[in-house]
Amino acid sequence: MNQNIALPIRLVVLISGNGSNLQAIIDDINNNNLPAQIVAVISNKADAYGLQRAKKAGIEQRVLSHRDFSDRTQYDQALKELIDEYQPDLVILAGFMRILSNEFVEHYLNKIMNIHPSLLPKYKGLNTHQRAIDAGDKEHGCSVHFVTPELDDGPVILQATVPIKADDTAETLATRVHEQEHRIYPEAIRLFAENKFSLNL
Ligand code: GRF
Repeated sequence: MNQNIALPIRLVVLISGNGSNLQAIIDDINNNNLPAQIVAVISNKADAYGLQRAKKAGIEQRVLSHRDFSDRTQYDQALKELIDEYQPDLVILAGFMRILSNEFVEHYLNKIMNIHPSLLPKYKGLNTHQRAIDAGDKEHGCSVHFVTPELDDGPVILQATVPIKADDTAETLATRVHEQEHRIYPEAIRLFAENKFSLNL
């Protein structure tokens, strides 16, 4: 699927908040570990800290607020048009806190990835760290996966596992998981860019 993509591959990164995964990707590109360029960072929130990270890195930032649209269909249509201005090879969801319509996801099928803070298929959705603690799990982690219309359900590309310690809170566990997110997300993008795998749905 991606064998005709020229390096560096073009990424559009979607965020809603802190953007620490965005930062990990920026750092990996700057360290020449990742043959990619971020052509735009798009946020649905104007105050997302990740926008400042993008600015500092000299990356174009765009804000498209969901509050300016009456429904999901209209928002997703506008988002699609905005993304497509940049002709990305891959769309990266990095803490983008929106449910995406089927039509949007299908438009980017095989070229849209997400990172989720659990060992999928466990704990789709929110509050994953607390849910793993409450279940008495010994291990937790994160997953990079292709996005398909079903929430947090697409084929997994990479996972990382961390131990759950007896005195962990959701916060301490989240910190441990985040470290792994910052390692495996750039790695998954690199494998995609180097054509080590692709998806054909
Ligand atoms: C991460 O925990 C990621 O797994 C989830 O949203 C969070 C984003 O964090 N999808 P950040 O904005 O990259 O710091």
